[in-house]
Amino acid sequence: MEPISAEALLRWYIEAGVDEAVDEAPLDRFALSATRPPATPAPLSPAPRPPAPPPKAAPAAPPDTDQAAATSARLATECRTLDELRAALTAFEGCALKQSANTTVFADGNPAAKVMLIGEAPGAEEDKHGLPFVGASGQLLDRMLASIGLDRGSVYITNVVNWRPPGNRKPTPAEVAICLPFVERHVELVDPEFLVLLGGAAASAMLASTESITRIRGRWHAYSSPGLPRPVAALATYHPAYLLRTPSAKREAWRDLLTLRKRLLAQS
Ligand code: URA
Repeated sequence: MEPISAEALLRWYIEAGVDEAVDEAPLDRFALSATRPPATPAPLSPAPRPPAPPPKAAPAAPPDTDQAAATSARLATECRTLDELRAALTAFEGCALKQSANTTVFADGNPAAKVMLIGEAPGAEEDKHGLPFVGASGQLLDRMLASIGLDRGSVYITNVVNWRPPGNRKPTPAEVAICLPFVERHVELVDPEFLVLLGGAAASAMLASTESITRIRGRWHAYSSPGLPRPVAALATYHPAYLLRTPSAKREAWRDLLTLRKRLLAQS
């Protein structure tokens, strides 16, 4: 191989991008690395920590269900009239559902009626209007009542839970437990002849039962509570919203309505 001239070497350096001389004299780095002991890898220093995030506000403590239920029980027991109960519910802050709801949905219909219906919880329309069962399932309920000669003047309607659960989800057991003393007092103050429990949530809460609505519906149960002079005959049936989704269940719901009508006729 022909020796290359210093000029040719410099030109080659320039073409390769070398634009700076760092030492006075050339350094043979190959020779250097041959004599140097193999480098021991430096211990890895811990990765620098990202800066600590600013302290977050502590998340709101979940409301203590037992404590809230004890408060609702005390407040409900103190109510002597439906107006007092409505005022107590409207002022009650122990149920988180109230924060996302627009209104407290108390009741509709005739408090002197023989029949008291209890649903699950308000939906979007009920939350808008402040009245139970005014949306699609309310319209079906009105038709069901009409089929046995009843209307909102001859029944009284409320729900187990008085505030709309976000997105119309089912109320949680904790929400039901917190609201239950109010609806129990509601029944005591109305003191109806008959209770009609619409759907599994109302039936299991009011009858303290774990039976499914399919098993519990269609027969009479004795509902009692300390403030009632006597047990009230309670009939569970399918929720109108379920009937809208499952028209095949309307046959059984119709039978339940006839069961109610039979008792009403026997009374009159
Ligand atoms: N479903 C219920 O359970 N209650 C209402 O008021 C409306 C829909």
